[in-house]
Amino acid sequence: MTIRALETSEVLRRADEIAGVFQRAFGYSDERRDHFRDTRLAYLPLYDGALTFGAFEDDALVGFVYGFDYQPGHWWPQQVGPALEQAGHGEWTMDTFELNELEVLPGYQGRGLGTALLRTLLGRTPHRHTLLSTTADPADRAKVLYRRLGFVDLVPGFRYAGVSEPANIMGRRRAD
Ligand SMILES: CC(C)(COP(=O)(O)OP(=O)(O)OC[C@H]1O[C@@H](n2cnc3c(N)ncnc32)[C@H](O)[C@@H]1OP(=O)(O)O)[C@@H](O)C(=O)NCCC(=O)NCCS
Repeated sequence: MTIRALETSEVLRRADEIAGVFQRAFGYSDERRDHFRDTRLAYLPLYDGALTFGAFEDDALVGFVYGFDYQPGHWWPQQVGPALEQAGHGEWTMDTFELNELEVLPGYQGRGLGTALLRTLLGRTPHRHTLLSTTADPADRAKVLYRRLGFVDLVPGFRYAGVSEPANIMGRRRAD
């Protein structure tokens, strides 16, 4: 198993494969997979500071992680920025990396790949802060991984507009 960086051009070339890992990790529909590929992945070149790492078995992708600079004009910062401010965490939106996705194929989960992918990415981001969104479900196992790597809850019970399930905004501050 190897972990390596993917240039954005390679992300676009491998978009079907990456979207397939996304779909299988979450058990999503083909429609949701295609929407992820055609919007989120296709728009990656528009974002500053994009960083992507993949986990490979031979040349087959089995997991990936990516994110980019947290920029106030983007969709996600507009959603979570006011809630962070309101919770007294405004400083977390300065010098910040927005972690978008971390997924590992079901057959490869529980072997340390998710931890290794995220650790590798965090070792490359120059930012003081990293923010992410996960579910508010206490049984969400991804949170174990995030906590282990130093993430803390910032806005538990966050609600996206029009979404009934609450989310949990978590952040990690780089040790000085
Ligand atoms: C979350 C995810 C990326 C973790 O990847 P992984 O390779 O299984 O992670 P690791 O093997 O490094 O496990 C680290 C910890 O994550 C937890 N974990 C989360 N999901 C797990 C799973 N499905 N199987 C096993 N452990 C899991 C475990 O508690 C584990 O800690 P432990 O080894 O001390 O028990 C992966 O399970 C996944 O793709 N899940 C579905 C998509 C998802 O929820 N992504 C995160 C969105 S916020």
